[in-house]
Amino acid sequence: MSDHDLVGTAVALRWQADYCRSKGSPIAATVCDAVADDLEANGPTEALLPARVRTGDWVGLRVMGLVHRMAITRRAPGVAINAPTLGGTSPFAAPDPTSAVAAFRDAVVTAVVSDPAAMAAALAAIPQTNEVGRSRALRIALSGCVSPVRLIELGASAGLNLRCDRLPGDADLEVGPLPEIVERLGCDLAPVDPTSADGRLWLSGFVWLDDVDRFAALGEAMRVATDVPATMVAADVVEFLNTIEVATGLTTVVWHSAVWPYLDAPTRNAVTARLAAIGSGATPDAPLWHVSWEPGPDGPEQFELVVERWDGGSEPRREVLVVGNSHGHELRAVASGRPWAS
Ligand SMILES: C[S@@+](CC[C@H](N)C(=O)[O-])C[C@H]1O[C@@H](n2cnc3c(N)ncnc32)[C@H](O)[C@@H]1O
Repeated sequence: MSDHDLVGTAVALRWQADYCRSKGSPIAATVCDAVADDLEANGPTEALLPARVRTGDWVGLRVMGLVHRMAITRRAPGVAINAPTLGGTSPFAAPDPTSAVAAFRDAVVTAVVSDPAAMAAALAAIPQTNEVGRSRALRIALSGCVSPVRLIELGASAGLNLRCDRLPGDADLEVGPLPEIVERLGCDLAPVDPTSADGRLWLSGFVWLDDVDRFAALGEAMRVATDVPATMVAADVVEFLNTIEVATGLTTVVWHSAVWPYLDAPTRNAVTARLAAIGSGATPDAPLWHVSWEPGPDGPEQFELVVERWDGGSEPRREVLVVGNSHGHELRAVASGRPWAS
């Protein structure tokens, strides 16, 4: 099934629920299950949600994001009190969690139907998970780059990966000290300002409600963003790439993570073609590195760190360096360490 195939909304919510459960997040899973159950019972959420969605619309993330934001702002106190990210107690913590889980499910549905305009806005906006763990994977590629670097990110959302040198790395897999980053530039259809209250709320909502560690890591990354400026441009990836060329004396690194599933085939092809065109102008003094942390051939759960390097030849050198999960954990080297580095 492609990301663009239509499925029933309850089916898409169940997929997200199963995924959250498999990743150890039963509370986030319950948010999706509660809404899916209500939809299937023709309950009040039916009037607010479409009957069918594209799988690539990530409707579960949109609904979970709204519910978490309502909890953070205490518009959904019955959810907040159960959200570990907010200091609440998991409804699954009781010896017999049945009644606590039932109350939580009711609180979720109550929250979702309490503000139809907020639900409509949440459904209309592209989910923007800024998973700081992905920076850990991306840094591994950067650790092989010659300094100084111009770091350019496609679909950067809030641009947190552009501050990767101030975020946690994986000392075992990095092959050297990170290069000096002299420019940090990103694009997104809807850039988020991680230094504003609204931006911070938006990003925080997309962390799963169970995931205290990710919530803390995101908070720290948003704090780092106030110290380390980055330029974000509101643009489609192709439009933005058309403005990029290699630069003498700098390694131009163009990277992206968890963006490929959002792009349709013509856009993916245009990105690939434009990167090749930029790469054709690369020289040993003006190299281009294309780095991606995106789902690999083994399905959406296994991400791959791929590096393509142009430095004067007609074809790039392409290597898969590392594999791991979508959040940048369980990282495992594929390439054998130093040989891939410059
Ligand atoms: C899941 S987020 C990933 C954010 C960040 N790269 C990370 O790893 O955390 C995907 C981002 O891609 C952006 N996006 C999707 N399609 C896009 C396009 N055609 N042009 C630019 N940005 C796009 C979305 O707005 C969203 O912010």
